[in-house]
Amino acid sequence: MKVEFDFPLKAYNTFGMDVSCARFVQIDRAEEIPMMGDVFDAPHYILGGGSNTLFTGHYEGTVVHPVFRGIEKADEAGDSVLLRVAAGEPWENLTEHCRLNTLYGLENLTGIPGLVGSAPVQNIGAYGAEAKDCIVKVDGYYTDTLQPFSLSNEECRFGYRDSIFKHELKGRCFITHVWFRLSTLPRFNLTYKALAQAMEGHEPTLDNVSETVLAIRNSKLPDIRKIGCAGSFFKNPVVDAAQYTALLARFPDLVSYPAGEGQVKLAAGQLIEKAGWKGRREGDAGVYPLQALVVVNYGNAKPDEICQVYRQVIADVQDLFQITLTPEVNIL
Ligand code: EPU
Repeated sequence: MKVEFDFPLKAYNTFGMDVSCARFVQIDRAEEIPMMGDVFDAPHYILGGGSNTLFTGHYEGTVVHPVFRGIEKADEAGDSVLLRVAAGEPWENLTEHCRLNTLYGLENLTGIPGLVGSAPVQNIGAYGAEAKDCIVKVDGYYTDTLQPFSLSNEECRFGYRDSIFKHELKGRCFITHVWFRLSTLPRFNLTYKALAQAMEGHEPTLDNVSETVLAIRNSKLPDIRKIGCAGSFFKNPVVDAAQYTALLARFPDLVSYPAGEGQVKLAAGQLIEKAGWKGRREGDAGVYPLQALVVVNYGNAKPDEICQVYRQVIADVQDLFQITLTPEVNIL
């Protein structure tokens, strides 16, 4: 374990916010966690890859950052393999491990930044797949009792960008390991339109599906090494059928997806674009020109400038559609 005080966080958040925290604790081994009662009794924030967090200023508490890694084959049965993956493992290492070992299931999630321990919290998803499709269970410690937990997929109550870790267990858990079941037999999910179109005429393989997913991502999303952002800033909103029908009369080209009985999910990116924000820039803060769901820092944007942009986006979408967008990123 390493402990630092008044620690700069610029390199620890993909938005590139130049802020600091009062104390920074790096966890090198999962076994250190039960000895950290003093840290968890005071204000703290568990920070993975910092790719889904917006720091709005100096953080007065302790930032806890896991760096323990490891991808372990825990079991092999029939046509599947069970992997136990440590929280500090970069997600990209996991998808690459699967590609190199011919394990199917996570290829549509290639290229997502962040650490494995964060994946179940917001049930990361892209191109028709979600982490929950392969997660078997999630292990960790309750930070209030320091007792270990192991929650099954069902107990995690996964939903769209959602899980129990964002509700009842919010701020009460330190995830140490995530267990994934991957198929050893080809099993592709090509339901997402742009992926299906790009794969047309090609026999799908782990290599070409991963490459295609990366190409689609790169065509729409900024390279976080060059432009600060946290991926989709907002969740896609869900509205009831009556509101959807009324909106459709005003906006006949509205993109929608079924979201359970009487519910329709809309594309926040399209709403933001129609509200005039796509590509709009205010100083160094703005909305990405190729995907309006992404709020970006073009260089030296201050947290206040990013906040001003995202709040104005919410206000303008509200005015035009009477829909309140909810941020998907954690705002601290
Ligand atoms: N659209 C617009 N204008 C835009 C952006 C999108 O009209 O500026 C329209 C598109 O034309 C399309 C629809 O909105 O018809 C949906 O767009 P897209 O397929 O790009 O996906 P999304 O719903 O905007 C979600 C995830 C992304 C994920 C993609 C691909 C959320 C909040 N975002 O975006 O996730 O990569 O699907 O599956 O669900 C992330 O979470 O950080 C992230 C990037």
